[in-house]
Amino acid sequence: MESTIDHTWNNLTQQYKVKHKESYSAWLQYKKVDDPTLVMEYQQLTAHIESFADSVVIESARNELRSALSSMLDIHPETSSGTKPKNRIVLVTKTELNLLENKIEVDFNQINDAGYFIKMVTTNENTTIYLVGKRDIGVLYAAFHLLRLMQNRESIKNLNIVESPKNQLRMINQWDNMDGSIERGYAGKSIFYKENAFSDELDRIQDYARLLSSVGINAIAINNVNVHQVETNLITASLLPRVVEVASIFRAYGIKTFLSINYASTIQLGDLETADPLDPEVKEWWKNKAKEIYQYIPDFGGFLVKADSEHRPGPFTYNRNHADGANMLAEALEPFGGLVIWRCFVYNCMQDWRDRSTDRARAAYDHFKPLDGKFHENVILQIKNGPMDFQVREAVSPLFGAMPQTNQMLEFQITQEYTGQQKHLCYLVPQWKGILDFDTYANGEGSPVKQVVDGSMFPYRYSGISAVSNIGNDYNWTGHTLAQANLYGFGRLTWNPDLEAETITNEWIGQTFGQDGLVNDQISQMLLKAWEIYEHYTSPLGVGWMVNPHHHYGPNVDGYEYSVWGTYHFADCRGIGVDRTVKTGTGYSAQYFKENADMYESLETCPDELLLFFHHVPYTHRLKSGDTVIQHIYNTHFEGVQEAEELKGRWTKLEGKIDSERYEDILNKLEEQVSHSKEWRDIINTYFYRKSGIADEQNRKIY
Ligand code: GCU
Repeated sequence: MESTIDHTWNNLTQQYKVKHKESYSAWLQYKKVDDPTLVMEYQQLTAHIESFADSVVIESARNELRSALSSMLDIHPETSSGTKPKNRIVLVTKTELNLLENKIEVDFNQINDAGYFIKMVTTNENTTIYLVGKRDIGVLYAAFHLLRLMQNRESIKNLNIVESPKNQLRMINQWDNMDGSIERGYAGKSIFYKENAFSDELDRIQDYARLLSSVGINAIAINNVNVHQVETNLITASLLPRVVEVASIFRAYGIKTFLSINYASTIQLGDLETADPLDPEVKEWWKNKAKEIYQYIPDFGGFLVKADSEHRPGPFTYNRNHADGANMLAEALEPFGGLVIWRCFVYNCMQDWRDRSTDRARAAYDHFKPLDGKFHENVILQIKNGPMDFQVREAVSPLFGAMPQTNQMLEFQITQEYTGQQKHLCYLVPQWKGILDFDTYANGEGSPVKQVVDGSMFPYRYSGISAVSNIGNDYNWTGHTLAQANLYGFGRLTWNPDLEAETITNEWIGQTFGQDGLVNDQISQMLLKAWEIYEHYTSPLGVGWMVNPHHHYGPNVDGYEYSVWGTYHFADCRGIGVDRTVKTGTGYSAQYFKENADMYESLETCPDELLLFFHHVPYTHRLKSGDTVIQHIYNTHFEGVQEAEELKGRWTKLEGKIDSERYEDILNKLEEQVSHSKEWRDIINTYFYRKSGIADEQNRKIY
């Protein structure tokens, strides 16, 4: 059968839409509604769409509504405004509000620029659902909101909704290379590039834009932060016309396009011999470059920059600092309203493992904190959630809240580099919520990270949240079908960090798998526990790593122990952990505001889950849970495998209730997870049993 499939690049998307409909549609399934009462309600209220506003974004809203309504209700909503329909959906922005024959009461002070109202108004003659945005993007978000309610089979009568995103920048970073590979990608090849050229499969990119916009994403950097040779040319006339095409697809969904740039472009592109940010020729070169880019893309977002990090070029070469580097680019972009998103993932990646005084966790704070207030207004520092690198558990970066005079944004990783690579189920929303809610004490008690990055704590001109994408050209986008929930969850949480994990999860399940009670119950329990389960059978108590070098999949306790990367656990026959205290260790704990610094410094108050991140302790050290460290390691690793088996058990209850493709795909992944979790369990337990010589109290099998 397979051999009859035409594998030309151009129609793969078309094939996926037909042959892998459910997997491909992700949470935009728009399944037919079968409850007759709801069908009647929905049909009555949505049979006509009238739009007062007009723009490419409004066009996207109309298209989405039309195709969703026809698929859910078998109707083809009329869009002509000639007749006077009884009931209708009206699309309108602030600008055209005065054109409405019946005035509606909305207070635009209640919403920000991307906000919207959904308001149902009934008069004697008719009922109207108004989708009102301050700008066109609000109308599109309102349309997606309405469809979300309908996909979750909620009543759309008497709606009166006011919504605004809490974060200004809601961004996705693609780590896609132009050869089609994706750095840390686990779901196939790039949907953007193939063989060092742009993909022609633009409808795939459009579907991606729909998914992103449906959860409120408004910015995307379309190439890897490690900008190699070919990608350096993305800012040149040879490739800009293709960037234009991609940017116009995203524009229609309210998403701004950014490019990752090579800091040494002046040299790489053969124009100059230096990339010194203070060199007048370099400055001039970037000014001209910015002008050129904006001629192609007038609403270009700006540059995402990884500089002086993991062998990437940067200002250090010229004895300049990060502010010098970022500001030079910022000056070039400033006349056009462009932004420089400058990453703080800067550390010594050529460390000597024998040197116990250097601590990678300290690096970002040590480099950037002294530069507070030195960056231009259109520079934003992008800070990874933790000081190390997207581990299953690590401390929250102490930089959040530590630079009141410098725009900050948070970087998460949706792609599961260290969290099971989309072979294991690891739903990250609960992890992200913990980070967003973490109290920095930057402004006294009640200063959570979410209020730093939403710009409400300090007068940041720009701020927000970004994340490394987890999608590729697999027919289900994310390799593990349930990993779609991570992309969805990221968007929703970034829109509103106060949403409960359960709310987001249930919304996603309803849209993705429908309304069956058992399906909802099982999947929600699977998702909400998945991160904890993954942590149980992998690296313990916040110490991190223990993965195979380079690809980072699978257990290897000493994989990075004697390497240059600064990622050590220091296990010996007596104990384990990294001493980051001020008293006897690297002093990292002092980078936090006092309340947190004190909490982490002391063994008594340091939370169990981060114990080994902050302290080196004997295996016999007793945790707050009552277990010793060694017994905790054994217990959680045995438990973790059982729990992975339970995940599979829950899933198998759903056989017959889910289309067979998604059922089988997920089952296969869960089976792989169960077997691989045993590998983790046995390697970790055996390693620590052999190191410590301490037996498991319960005498379970350790090798
Ligand atoms: C991690 C990851 C790299 C990536 C880097 C970054 O180290 O393994 O692949 O380039 O983060 O965020 O820049």
